[in-house]
Amino acid sequence: MGGAAALAVSIAGLTIHVMTAPSPRKLLLGITGGIAAYKAAELARLFVKAGWQVQVVMTAHATEFVAPLTFQALTGREVRGALFDPQHEAAMGHIELARWPDAIVIAPASANTIAKLAQGRADDLLSTLCLATDKPLFVVPAMNRLMWSNAATQDNLALLRRRGVQQLGPGSGSQACGEIGEGRMWEPEQIFDSVSAALGQTKDLAGLHAVVTAGPTREPLDPVRFISNRSSGKQGYAVAAALASRGAKVTLISGPTQLPTPAGITRIDVESAEQMLGISLAAAAEAQIFVGAAAVADYRASSVAPEKIKKSGEAMTLTLSKNPDILARVRAAQPALFLVGFAAETEKLAEHARGKLEKKQLNLIAANWVGAGKAFDTEDNALSLFWPGGEAEIASASKAEVARQLVDRIIALYRSR
Ligand code: C5P
Repeated sequence: MGGAAALAVSIAGLTIHVMTAPSPRKLLLGITGGIAAYKAAELARLFVKAGWQVQVVMTAHATEFVAPLTFQALTGREVRGALFDPQHEAAMGHIELARWPDAIVIAPASANTIAKLAQGRADDLLSTLCLATDKPLFVVPAMNRLMWSNAATQDNLALLRRRGVQQLGPGSGSQACGEIGEGRMWEPEQIFDSVSAALGQTKDLAGLHAVVTAGPTREPLDPVRFISNRSSGKQGYAVAAALASRGAKVTLISGPTQLPTPAGITRIDVESAEQMLGISLAAAAEAQIFVGAAAVADYRASSVAPEKIKKSGEAMTLTLSKNPDILARVRAAQPALFLVGFAAETEKLAEHARGKLEKKQLNLIAANWVGAGKAFDTEDNALSLFWPGGEAEIASASKAEVARQLVDRIIALYRSR
């Protein structure tokens, strides 16, 4: 599958090593009937952008939600739908189509299609292809929360997982039907990252261990209250996923977030900066790369009240103590580690970022503007990168795309040390 191949040619006694261009990878994207079908357009675009050939197969119900023409325009290939279509069968029959891809992703996967796959039915093109293939199959469920929690759906998915089908998601949140709960389709970037990671891209980081901290910390004041910040953890999680997709073993040390764990990653949940420090020091001892993307609270309550603090006067004063600087402590313990920090700034971005690069003895710092709707809890991000002797910009893009570019830079700098 994919991958550049080495070819050695001997001409007049000289051996010339030629790297052939990587052959494009092939994805069969199955789309079933659900409102999340509109998000499949973005998913198709991400794969096409990453150099994949994408063949879309839609169920009849899917075409009620999005026009096949949308996917034809995005993929440059006519969308397939009918099982018995003489014109298409003459060009690439359904058995050939089942053999063609490197992977099949069904997104969104409706409860109905999941049930059909579990039973091995073949009553339309997509279900027939799934039955007639031995390629990796990913299902990305998306449905109403009650359909999701129904024992039939859960049993069907358990059966599919046992057969080696890879299930991605779902997440939880507000649903198109107006309800809130589990059953929301994963975001396209998350699906793309997980499929890429599972299929293995260029494994430049194979054999290396990377640790990523992400999300906010919570510093308790009493048994019910805490000090925290607006970090969603999305950028840190995307960095963890991007490192894993390049073959690294990844440990994600996460403050409280609403995010699902990216595929193939070990996640350790913490709350306070002190907990994050303890786990970070232990994990860093086994790692070669450490990325501190967490928004660690700089201060914590000097003393945590054992009981809920009662309302009394018009004003109250909290005494705060400085938290340990996790990156600085990790650096002191592991001088050889490749250490990456983040700097979230509202002013003088380059000056502050360069100051932190030096003070924390980092190999690379990724700085971004925050405040006024920028970066925290948004879907897109832009980064200014600084390292000793260089700098670069990553233009505004999805956090997954930004993470991929950041990991490219980490790999280049790690190798050039
Ligand atoms: O000094 P400042 O908090 O702005 O630096 C941000 C960087 O330092 C981030 O990479 C963050 O994860 C890390 N940090 C840390 N320990 C702290 C505060 C921030 O490691 N106590």
